[in-house]
Amino acid sequence: LVAGVDTSTQSCKIVVRDAETGALVRTGSAKHPDGTEVDPQHWWDAFQEAAAAAGGLADVAALAVGGQQHGMVTLDADGNVVRPALLWNDNRSAPSAEALITELGNGDREAGAQAWADAVGSVLVASLTITKLRWLRDNEPENAAKVAAVALPHDWLSWRIAGYGPAGDPTAPLGPQLDKLFTDRSDASGTGYYDASVGEYRPDLLERALGRADVVLPRVVGVAEAGAVAHPSVAGGATATSIASNGCLIGPGAGDNAGASLGLGMTPGDIAISIGTSGVVSAVAPQRTADGSGAINGFADATGNALMLAVTLNAARVLDAAREVLDVDFDGLAELALQAPPGSDGLVLVPYLEGERTPNRPDATGTLHGIRLATSTRPHLARAYIEGMLCGLADGLDALRAQGVAMERVMLIGGAAQSTAVQQIAPQVFGLPISIPEPGEYVADGAARQAAWALARAADPAAAAPAWSTTIATTLDADPKPVVREQYAAVRDLA
Ligand code: XUL
Repeated sequence: LVAGVDTSTQSCKIVVRDAETGALVRTGSAKHPDGTEVDPQHWWDAFQEAAAAAGGLADVAALAVGGQQHGMVTLDADGNVVRPALLWNDNRSAPSAEALITELGNGDREAGAQAWADAVGSVLVASLTITKLRWLRDNEPENAAKVAAVALPHDWLSWRIAGYGPAGDPTAPLGPQLDKLFTDRSDASGTGYYDASVGEYRPDLLERALGRADVVLPRVVGVAEAGAVAHPSVAGGATATSIASNGCLIGPGAGDNAGASLGLGMTPGDIAISIGTSGVVSAVAPQRTADGSGAINGFADATGNALMLAVTLNAARVLDAAREVLDVDFDGLAELALQAPPGSDGLVLVPYLEGERTPNRPDATGTLHGIRLATSTRPHLARAYIEGMLCGLADGLDALRAQGVAMERVMLIGGAAQSTAVQQIAPQVFGLPISIPEPGEYVADGAARQAAWALARAADPAAAAPAWSTTIATTLDADPKPVVREQYAAVRDLA
């Protein structure tokens, strides 16, 4: 058996699967506290609770951890966290991001943005770890001075599972060995001080942020190489929850988007569009590009390819807003929308309800355009909201296309992907075939798949990734209705 762990913003989820077939055997989960600043100890406690809920991990031969990207976990020389972790969704370092961009461009913001994209694949935004280190240097110099190592959420949890941790902590029998921290290329690529295109850290950039580079950074282990062996007593020592004492391997892990990509079995030409609180459009490509506009993050995936990402701010919540306006439930909204024709007879919603990130218009508002007597109906309104949301995501696809990314099919994931109207309208807006995977824990599943791969590679260094991945439940043919995007583009550009 193998286990996949997803230490996400909201919770810790564990899936236990058969290493050969991928069949799901057991699951468990436990909640994380809310907030954008969290003591990592909560992640460790939730991991143990989730492991117990999954019936323990004593029979697992390999595990891997996927996790929320970018969070800054700072450790002192004794392995204690210096301060609570600042997460990807903590925006306090936005001015630090701007300062770092302008500094690298010697005062020229545009040149600086391109220089960051060239160096690390992404123009800096507050999410990225490096901006948080600059914030720490400027705002908490006493804490900055204590930092002996910087890790990401998934690296830190893997290190704890391997038996390392704060000096004197009985759940960390191997103590604070900072040089035993490890990570993988996908998560490292979201720090802002790692260049996945050559597989190297950039201590010079780290030094720009923190003022010094004499800190331990997690070793970036190879694709599906084991980074460590789990300590038998890690999950509390109780028989039901302890990790197998037979040398359970820990895979390198992954950032959550790369973990999902592995769970979905994505290869170049595949796009995943996740319609959650925000919309994440991700594509696997052979190589990253360097988009100085900042629309596309050139991260790495967990297999050796690039993972190109566009994030929109207006996704599922646009549908929530429509439900509120129309006073219907999830299915009621779909039912209404499908009564109106494609293009809603010219009624167009530009869905920037709380500004937008792709395109970069933080202060924009939404626009409802083309309202006439004939389009003042509940079905027209319902359809315009769904089409507008999907057109916003299609702009993310266009930004990827502009980077030369190949697109053969789109996988639609997230709760909103289960809406019959979203399923029917998406092939019209995207003009591409759509696959709807079975609902699942894609990140934890990807981590489990990586664990099985690491197990196979331990026996045969050339072993390929296990063939199993998420099952596709529904496939929809491309059904382009250019009018929808054309009328949307005309209105968006008025805004
Ligand atoms: C990606 C990003 C989010 C987090 C969520 O850049 O910030 O998708 O990875 O955990």
